[in-house]
Amino acid sequence: MQVLVTGGCGFIGSNFIHHMLATHPDLSIVNLDKLTYAGNRRNLAEIEASESERRYHFVHGDICDQALVPELMRRFAFDAVVHFAAESHVDRSINDPFPFITTNVLGTQNLLEAARQAKIPRFVHVSTDEVYGSLGPEGLFTEDTPLAPNSPYSASKASSDLLARAYFQTYGLPVLITRCSNNYGPYQFPEKLIPLAYLKASQGQAIPVYGDGLQVRDWIYVLDHCKGVEAALLRGHAGAVYNFGGDAERTNLEIVQTILRLTGANPELISFVTDRPGHDRRYAMAFERSTRDLGWTPQQSFEQGMAQTLSWYAANGAWLDEVQSGAYRQFMDTWYATRQT
Ligand code: NAD
Ligand code: TYD
Repeated sequence: MQVLVTGGCGFIGSNFIHHMLATHPDLSIVNLDKLTYAGNRRNLAEIEASESERRYHFVHGDICDQALVPELMRRFAFDAVVHFAAESHVDRSINDPFPFITTNVLGTQNLLEAARQAKIPRFVHVSTDEVYGSLGPEGLFTEDTPLAPNSPYSASKASSDLLARAYFQTYGLPVLITRCSNNYGPYQFPEKLIPLAYLKASQGQAIPVYGDGLQVRDWIYVLDHCKGVEAALLRGHAGAVYNFGGDAERTNLEIVQTILRLTGANPELISFVTDRPGHDRRYAMAFERSTRDLGWTPQQSFEQGMAQTLSWYAANGAWLDEVQSGAYRQFMDTWYATRQT
């Protein structure tokens, strides 16, 4: 099986590539990534350096490129596209929505159209629970919950979901949409709550908690999400939407307190700051359809997953240092130069 993965140098995409190459010996992957600030080739450096290299090819490019994307799809006879590439951070979307519309909406459209022309037999569009909007204290999002996005990020993702749906309904492109709750785990860029709080705690700096800190997210360990995308790719029904959740609702305050406790940092580092505009109060997922149709449930408990994640960050200080200093952006040039000598 030959798969085009987009955004494979980001947090979830790189975890997905690690998992798929390790568990599917007959699979090969082409990773198309623009290497925005969120893309880091070091996340896949061992794969590039190892035997798996023959099953892995990196293409530095933009999903919006109307020449490159169709050319790639013509050149490689892909059995599937797994589309992770996106601008993914809500706060950035509030500061400047334009890159979100460009990549998440127009980029997805470009991929869908190229996949249609090339008659790609499977297209997994990776989306988010944030398209459903915000919940009150009770209830869960199901796949039938109406879309009601509240941030430019979630509006751009909802728009891309609707385009994906339209390509199935109108052209019969075999698209599946997956929607997952908040991920955490190795390789997450430290602008998102968990790695940011770890970084601040380990450096003895104040951790910004927005508003009252009582917003709720349903946290899922990234490998569980990757296994859900894998299951959708291998066993999902074309045209279907699949929710994935972690069954682990926590307030932001609980998350930060857990990180402070596990790192042994000063509990007084919590700093309440002005709330995010349009801040969604609560996300929580029902995922019975994924369990019934795909045989999927999240495996990792929140406590184990958090302990594992914080250990990973502690053991990978060099990764965090490079991300913080910006050195990760030059990393691959140096790395290739070293390999060629
Ligand atoms: P990320 O920001 O860590 O990574 C995004 C990747 O996409 C980066 O490697 C970046 O270089 C690449 N990229 C961005 N614009 C591109 C473009 N125009 N062309 C090619 N590559 C481009 O994101 P993530 O957290 O790994 O999220 C991956 C996907 O999963 C996104 O679609 C996101 O909406 C979705 N998702 C994320 C979460 C979460 O908790 N992080 C939850 C549910 C769904
Ligand atoms: P984030 O990791 O940005 O994910 P999302 O906005 O996609 O859910 O934020 C998770 C929650 O943590 C969200 O309710 C916003 C909050 N938050 C803070 O309180 N402080 C922070 O510094 C960050 C980055 C997020």
